[in-house]
Amino acid sequence: MIHHARYTGLLDRYRDRLPLSDDTRLISLGEGATPLIRLQNLPKKLGRKVEIYAKYEGLNPTGSFKDRGMTMAVTKAVEEGSKAIICASTGNTSAAAAAYAARAGITAFVIIPDGKIAMGKLAQAMMYGAKIMQIRGNFDDGMRLVKEVANHAPVAIVNSVNPYRLQGQKTAAFEIIEELGRAPDYHCLPVGNAGNITAHWIGYCEYIASPDDHVTGACDFGDGKSPYAGGSITGKRPKMLGYQATGSAPFMRGEMIDNPETVATAIRIGHPQSWDRAWKVVEESGGWFAEVSDEEILAAQRLLTQHEGVFCEPASAASLAGLINDLNAGKIEDGSSIVLTLTGNGLKDPDTAIGQCNGEMPGVEKATMVTVDADLESVRNAITGFMD
Ligand SMILES: Cc1ncc(COP(=O)(O)O)c(C=O)c1O
Repeated sequence: MIHHARYTGLLDRYRDRLPLSDDTRLISLGEGATPLIRLQNLPKKLGRKVEIYAKYEGLNPTGSFKDRGMTMAVTKAVEEGSKAIICASTGNTSAAAAAYAARAGITAFVIIPDGKIAMGKLAQAMMYGAKIMQIRGNFDDGMRLVKEVANHAPVAIVNSVNPYRLQGQKTAAFEIIEELGRAPDYHCLPVGNAGNITAHWIGYCEYIASPDDHVTGACDFGDGKSPYAGGSITGKRPKMLGYQATGSAPFMRGEMIDNPETVATAIRIGHPQSWDRAWKVVEESGGWFAEVSDEEILAAQRLLTQHEGVFCEPASAASLAGLINDLNAGKIEDGSSIVLTLTGNGLKDPDTAIGQCNGEMPGVEKATMVTVDADLESVRNAITGFMD
C-alpha cells in the first residue's frame, strides 16, 4: 500500500498554533518543511567539536524564508477582504508578496530601492506580476512611504510590521524543535529589520516552557492570541545570536543609521522595524548581536558552497560568518549544538556569486572555467590541464 500524505504547507501543518479558523481559505504554495542540513565538513575545518545545522530556507517556493510569513499575511489579508497588498522590500519580500498575491488573485504593490536589489529577486517580482515602484532611496525610505500610503489607501501592509508575518515565520522554530527533539544551544541569524529573529524566538517560547523561566511575557509580541503560550514541552531555549553587516549595523551602533551599505543587499537596513523586540529577544535568550564585514560574509558564502554544497545568498551567509568569529573568539563552547538560518537561496543573487569567482576579488581564486573547442581532444586536454 502506498502511504500518502501530501504536504500542504505550514498553515495547514500548524493550523492549531496559528490565528486561523477552520474555514479560512489558505493561500499556500507548499512552503515550510525545509531541510535541516547537518554540516559535515566545516566543524572539522574549523577544528571544533560542535554540531552545526543549516536550516535551508532558500528551498521555500520563492527561495527565501519570507514565504513563511507571506502565506500567513496574504491569507489573512484575503480573509479580511483586501484586494491589494503593499510592501517595501530589499528584494525577497517583494518576490514573496508578488507570488502569494498572484496565487490569491489580488494585486501586489512593491517598493524597492533603485538598483540595490539582487537580479533574481527583481526577475521574480516582475514575472509574478507585481506593480513595482523603484524609488530613488533605500529600504528605510520605502518603509516610511509604505506606512504613509497605507494610511490613505485600502491596501494591506505585508512587511513584518504586520503581526501575521511573524506568526507565519515562527514555524521555522517549530520545525527545528521537531527535527532535533529539542532546541539547539545557539541559533544564529542575519538581522535586517529584525523580524525573523523575533519570529524564531516567539516560536521557541511558544513551544518550549523553560524550567528556569525568568522570562515573562516573552511571547507577548504579536496579537497575544497564541493558544500555546507557556510551552508544550519543557526544556532549554537557544541563545539567539543576531549578526549584522558592518556597514548596516544599527544594533551594534546602538542607534538607527541613515546610510546603510553592504554587499548583502537583503540586510541593507538602517532603521529596523523590530528594534525593541529584537533587543528583548537577545536579552531574554542570553544571546548577543555582533557584526561581520562584507569580506567575512562573502568568504562564509564560499565556504558553505565549496565545502558543504549549500548555496545561500550573501545576507544568509552572515550567520555563518558571525558564528565562525564567535567560535574563534571562544564564545561558544565545545559540545554545543548550533542552528544557522540560511534565509535565502544563492540563486537570488547571481551577480555577486559570479563576481566572487571571476578573479576580480583580492584573495579569491578564479573559478576553474575554460572555453574550448567542441571536440574530444580539446576536452581531454582541458581535463588534463585541470588535474595539473
Ligand atoms: C535573505 C535575507 N536574510 C535576512 C533578512 C533579514 O531578515 P529580517 O529583516 O527579518 O531581520 C532578509 C530580509 O530582510 C533577507 O531577505
